[in-house]
Amino acid sequence: MASKLGWIGLGRMGEAMVKRLLKGGPALQGCTVDVWNRTATKAEPLVAYGARVAPSKTALAACDIVFTMVSTTDDLKQVLFDADGLCSGVQKPKVVVDSSSISQEGSAEIRERLEAMGVAYLCTPVSGNAKVAKAGKLLMVSSGPRALYDQAEPYLQAMARKVMWVGEGELARIWKIAHNTMFGVVIQNLCEITVLAEKAGIPRHVFLESINDSVLGSMYTRYKSPVLTNLTFEQVTFTPKLLLKDMDLGMATAKTYGVAMPAAAATRESVARMVGHGHDNVDFAILLQETALDAGLALVSENKVIDDGLQG
Ligand SMILES: NC(=O)c1ccc[n+]([C@@H]2O[C@H](COP(=O)([O-])OP(=O)(O)OC[C@H]3O[C@@H](n4cnc5c(N)ncnc54)[C@H](OP(=O)(O)O)[C@@H]3O)[C@@H](O)[C@H]2O)c1
Repeated sequence: MASKLGWIGLGRMGEAMVKRLLKGGPALQGCTVDVWNRTATKAEPLVAYGARVAPSKTALAACDIVFTMVSTTDDLKQVLFDADGLCSGVQKPKVVVDSSSISQEGSAEIRERLEAMGVAYLCTPVSGNAKVAKAGKLLMVSSGPRALYDQAEPYLQAMARKVMWVGEGELARIWKIAHNTMFGVVIQNLCEITVLAEKAGIPRHVFLESINDSVLGSMYTRYKSPVLTNLTFEQVTFTPKLLLKDMDLGMATAKTYGVAMPAAAATRESVARMVGHGHDNVDFAILLQETALDAGLALVSENKVIDDGLQG
């Protein structure tokens, strides 16, 4: 069993996930968790949860497993391979487990470079936002060598409601790209039908409650219902830019495999327009406001307490 764990990337997701890891389960007893973040001030509060702040990324190479959760393929390459990166020292890490949402090609290149250094690599993207992670309800889907997955599984289980292995190589990247393509298409359509219902006269909270309790309701429609009702877009779970990145990954993968995805293509353009309108440090649910504007509908907060399905 691993006893020294490392973590790079303490953004919205990384912070929530490492807190679950620190809470641990039987597998985590006696483990140390050393954390590093580019903006160091985000690491310090985790000391109160039992983490130790690593002085550098290179110092984490002494860990048995290093988890990474950063934004894009290029960011992951930087934290691993830059002159002061995790792999830049004489001592190389043994295992890297990455949960960022990145491209299949970028991940394959990273695997090649890591494996050439003798570093084992598991892709483990996730389904769920930071609130889902905090509630311990993430799904984590891995690909890479099966034996490596078996080694990492107890630690993944500490962070998730369910963990799965979908195969060798970069297959989990394909899974995540497919997942997030649906993530975009669902919010696009949910915004369209919510605006349609409201313009016709059904209050948003009533309409969303009915969808959540219909055969179409999901953890996703439920946890987006508070923001869609109360327009609290400043409470960011995931940004328009990150969603555009994922829609672009979906469209690029569709091209690679020769799959027509008309619903995803239309959604990609809608998300690009939202980003083009300058919406940046806000929640991607602001797509509702964009859709309402197109329909000539002025939205106001309904100021309701809505169950997001993530309590308890
Ligand atoms: N938010 C969600 O709902 C959600 C759900 C599932 C998956 N994801 C995916 O998870 C990943 C992280 O998302 P997030 O929402 O946690 O993003 P975030 O809050 O923007 O955090 C990004 C993290 O990556 C670090 N980072 C970015 N570029 C870096 C670089 N070049 N060098 C070093 N560190 C760098 C940031 O450091 P600083 O703190 O210094 O900026 C921060 O710790 C993304 O790939 C996203 O697509 C997000």
